[in-house]
Amino acid sequence: MALIKTPEEIGLIKQSSLLVGKTLAEVARHLRPGVTTRELDRIAEQFIRDHGAIPGFKGYHGYPAALCISVNSVVVHGIPNDYAIKEGDIVSVDCGVVLNGFWGDSAYTFAVGEIAPEVQMLLKHTLESLYKGIEAAVAGNRIGDIGHAVQSHVEQFGYGVVRDLVGHGLGRQLHEKPDVPNFGRKGTGPMLHEGMILAIEPMINLGTPHVVMDKDGWTIRTRDGKPSAHFEHDIVVRKGKAEILSTFSYIEEVLQSKL
Ligand code: CO
Repeated sequence: MALIKTPEEIGLIKQSSLLVGKTLAEVARHLRPGVTTRELDRIAEQFIRDHGAIPGFKGYHGYPAALCISVNSVVVHGIPNDYAIKEGDIVSVDCGVVLNGFWGDSAYTFAVGEIAPEVQMLLKHTLESLYKGIEAAVAGNRIGDIGHAVQSHVEQFGYGVVRDLVGHGLGRQLHEKPDVPNFGRKGTGPMLHEGMILAIEPMINLGTPHVVMDKDGWTIRTRDGKPSAHFEHDIVVRKGKAEILSTFSYIEEVLQSKL
């Protein structure tokens, strides 16, 4: 798999990423106290199929659902189940689709009603760190520049950067080279070239960086039980400024209209 994509390939990945953004917005429309994570997963799967795409996570290394829905102290890879969302939860929704043979992969962490102020700040600062990482994803920089940008932004607030999971290249496969850690040193790691597609996805804990996996083999939780936030964009490395392929604008429209 080539690390540098053609303009045609980038156009297709953008279409896939946009559908993920629309799917996350559809989930946002239904996200309210009382809804179960399984109901949200069914809504997303139907929406993806109605748009001619495949819910790529379903069956990926045996993963059983279209979405990963990770509530509060679950960091990532929460499997949709009969848990009913309640006021005060934070809910990370991670979605991947395959359309025309190319993946899109994006995630957003939602606040349900009023949440604790320190958790509200965790969401704000984690989202900021995603954009700091994207700012560093320019041709001529290295992978470590992205991780350093994310890490230095969030560690000033005392948060823990998850080390055990990383972002990734993206294309015909969900996980392509290179790995994109959310920590690192400036000027280290693989060089970034125009046309590389990266999924950048900071996973940031209110407490320590340590995580544990449930016996289900998927669910990743914070070891200390404190909340964790996760946002993910698909981007193209460009000279001077990265281009963001995925979008939160559909989500933001829904959240505005809910206020
Ligand atoms: Co990803």
